[in-house]
Amino acid sequence: MTAELISGTEISKAILAEIKQEVDEMREKTGTVPGLVTILVGENPASVSYVTLKVKTALNLGFKEIQDNQPADISEQDLLALIDKYNNDPEIHGILVQLPLPDHVDDKKVLDAIDPDKDVDAFHPVNVGRLMIGGDVVRFLPCTPAGIQELIVRSGTETSGAEVVVVGRSNIVGKPIAMMMAQKGVGANSTVTIVHTRTKDLAAHCQRADILIVAAGVPNLVKPEWIKPGSTVIDVGVNRIGTNEKTGKAILRGDVDFDKAKEIAGKITPVPGGVGPMTICMLMRNTLRSAQKSI
Ligand code: GUN
Repeated sequence: MTAELISGTEISKAILAEIKQEVDEMREKTGTVPGLVTILVGENPASVSYVTLKVKTALNLGFKEIQDNQPADISEQDLLALIDKYNNDPEIHGILVQLPLPDHVDDKKVLDAIDPDKDVDAFHPVNVGRLMIGGDVVRFLPCTPAGIQELIVRSGTETSGAEVVVVGRSNIVGKPIAMMMAQKGVGANSTVTIVHTRTKDLAAHCQRADILIVAAGVPNLVKPEWIKPGSTVIDVGVNRIGTNEKTGKAILRGDVDFDKAKEIAGKITPVPGGVGPMTICMLMRNTLRSAQKSI
C-alpha cells in the first residue's frame, strides 16, 4: 500500500485563499484590515528568511504589515518600550517577536510583555493557560500545533476516540498539540499519549497510534515497523542532513523514514511540504481572528 500524501503546500494555499476572502470582506464592510507587526532583532540569517516570508504572506493577503527591524544591540528596555507602543496601537492586531533574541535580552520578559490578546504566536502564559482550559476561552492556538490539527482534519482523519501518540514534549509543539487533541471538540476528542527520550518502549507506543505526530528533531527516528498499518503520520521534523552540491540548498529530512513509512501508513505528510507551510498560514489566521474580535 502507498499512503495518501497530506500536502501542507496545497492545504495551506487553500486556507490562505479563504483568509484572503475574509480580509477582502472585512475591508469592504468595515474599512479595516488585519494589522501585523513583525519585530526582528539583529540579522540571524534563518530569522531574516522566516520574517521575510511572513511579511510577504501578510502583504499578499492585504494585511497592514509593519516590519520593524531593530539592531542586535537594542537594549531590553527599548525592546519592551517598542512592544508597549504596539500593544497600544489600535491598528495592530498581532505582534510577533522573531526568536531567538540576542543573549543580553531575556526572551521570557519580552514575550510576557506582549498583550495576550495580540499574541498571535500564542507563546504568552495566558494563552498557554487558555489552551489548557479549552473551549471558548481559547483566543489563539500556537501556529505549528494549529497547522498539524488542520492537516489532520482536512485529510479526513477521524480523531474522535483515536489513539494519538505524540513523540516529543516541547513547549511549542509536543505539549500543546497533545493537549489540543485531548480536548473536547472538532478535530480532537482523542486518547493521547506523550512519549519522549525517557520513554521505555518507544516502538510499542508508536505501534498503537492511529495518529502518530512526531516532533523529536531526530532524522529518521521513527522506523517503518513502528507504524500501525493504515494510520495517519504527521512528521514535524525538519532536519538538515547535508547540502545539495549542485544547488547549494540544504537537504531536509523529517523524523520519520518517509520512503518506507509511506508503504505502511494510510496518510502521511512529506518533509518538506507538510507541516512547514502550515505554520505561517496559521499565524495569518490568528491575526485575522484577532482583527475580527477587535471590531
Ligand atoms: N523562531 C522560529 N520559529 C518561530 C515562531 O514560530 N515564532 C517566533 N516568534 N519565532 C520563531
